[in-house]
Amino acid sequence: MSPQIRSASQADSLKDALEQIHSGEPVAVPTETVYGLAADARSDRAVSRIYEIKKRPSFNPLIVHVADLDAATRLVELDDIAIRLADAFWPGPLTLVARLKAGHGISPILLAGHETLAVRVPDAPVMQTLISRSGRPLAAPSANASGSISPTTALHVQSSLTDWNGIILDNGPCRVGLESTIVDVTTDTPAILRQGGLPEEALTDLVGDLDQGSRSSSPKAPGQLSSHYAPKARLRLNVTCPDRDEAWLTFGPTRKLHCIRVVSLSPDGDLTEAASNLFAALHELDTQYSKIAVAPVPDQGIGRAINDRLLRAAHGKS
Ligand code: TXA
Ligand code: MG
Repeated sequence: MSPQIRSASQADSLKDALEQIHSGEPVAVPTETVYGLAADARSDRAVSRIYEIKKRPSFNPLIVHVADLDAATRLVELDDIAIRLADAFWPGPLTLVARLKAGHGISPILLAGHETLAVRVPDAPVMQTLISRSGRPLAAPSANASGSISPTTALHVQSSLTDWNGIILDNGPCRVGLESTIVDVTTDTPAILRQGGLPEEALTDLVGDLDQGSRSSSPKAPGQLSSHYAPKARLRLNVTCPDRDEAWLTFGPTRKLHCIRVVSLSPDGDLTEAASNLFAALHELDTQYSKIAVAPVPDQGIGRAINDRLLRAAHGKS
C-alpha cells in the first residue's frame, strides 16, 4: 500500500481529490511552504484520519487553512496588530494563533484542548482551489509521518506515508520549502512560536519587536518538540572541515574536500534558495549516508528558520 501521485493540473485529479475531502478522507496537497495532508477541519472523522495516517500525538493541534482574511475572522478574534499582519502577509507563509470565536464549528479533536486556533491563508494555487471548491476550512499538517522531515515534493510524501493509499496532488517542489512562521497574537506583544518561511525581520519591520517565544526553553507550539525534524543520519552542525566519512551540506560555493560528498544549499549564498532546498537535500543525503556534516548558515532572515530546523534535526545526534 502506498499513496498515489496524481498531477494537480489534471481536472480529474482535482475532482477525485475533492471527492476524498467530501467523504472525510485526507488528500496530500502542495502549499507554498511544504506539502500538507488536508482534510475537512469541521469533521471529527476527517481530522481523526489525519492523526491516524501521520501517527501524530493527539495533544498536538493542527493548522486550519482558509481562503482569505474574511474567512479567518469568522473563526478567530483578530485584533489590530493581527489584522495588519494578515493584510501584509496573507496569502503567504504566516500562521496566526488567535482566540476562537463562539460557533466556530472546528473539530475539537484538531484543537487538542486549546481555546486558540492556528490559522493561515495559503498562497499556493492548488491548496486555494481545494479550499474554495470544497467550501470548507481545511486542516493540514505537513504530509509526513510524525517526527520526520517535512515533504517539499510529492515523492517525499509518498516515501513517508507508506501505510496510506490516498491521493497526492503533485504540483512540483514547494516554493518556500520551510513551514510557515507561527505568530501568537493572543497577547499584547505578538510572539513567534515557530521560525519559518516568513523572516522575522519582515514581521518586526511592520509591528516592532516581538516576544521571543521561539528562543525560550519552553516554546508554546506543542509540536515544537526538540527532536521533531529528525533524519536517520547523524548530523553535525557548523562544520567547516568535514571528516572523510561524512557527506557535507554547505552554504555558498562548494569546495572540493576529502569527504564522500559535497552538496551546497545555495552555491550563490542565497538564503531563500537555501531554504527551498533544505528539506530536499536532507531527504536525499539521509537516504544515502549515515553521517552528515553541515556548514554554518548565516543566522539572519530566513536563515534563522533554516538553523532552527537544522538544530532540531541534529538534536541528540551530534
Ligand atoms: O507551513 C505550514 O505551516 C504547513 C503547511 C501544510 O501549511 N503546516 C504545518 O503543520 O507545518 P504542522 O502540523 O506540521 O505544524 C503546525 C504547528 C505544530 O507545531 C503545532 O503544535 C502548532 O503548529 N500549533 C497548531 N495549533 C496551535 C495552537 N492553537 N497554538 C499553538 N501552536 C499550535
Ligand atoms: Mg509538521
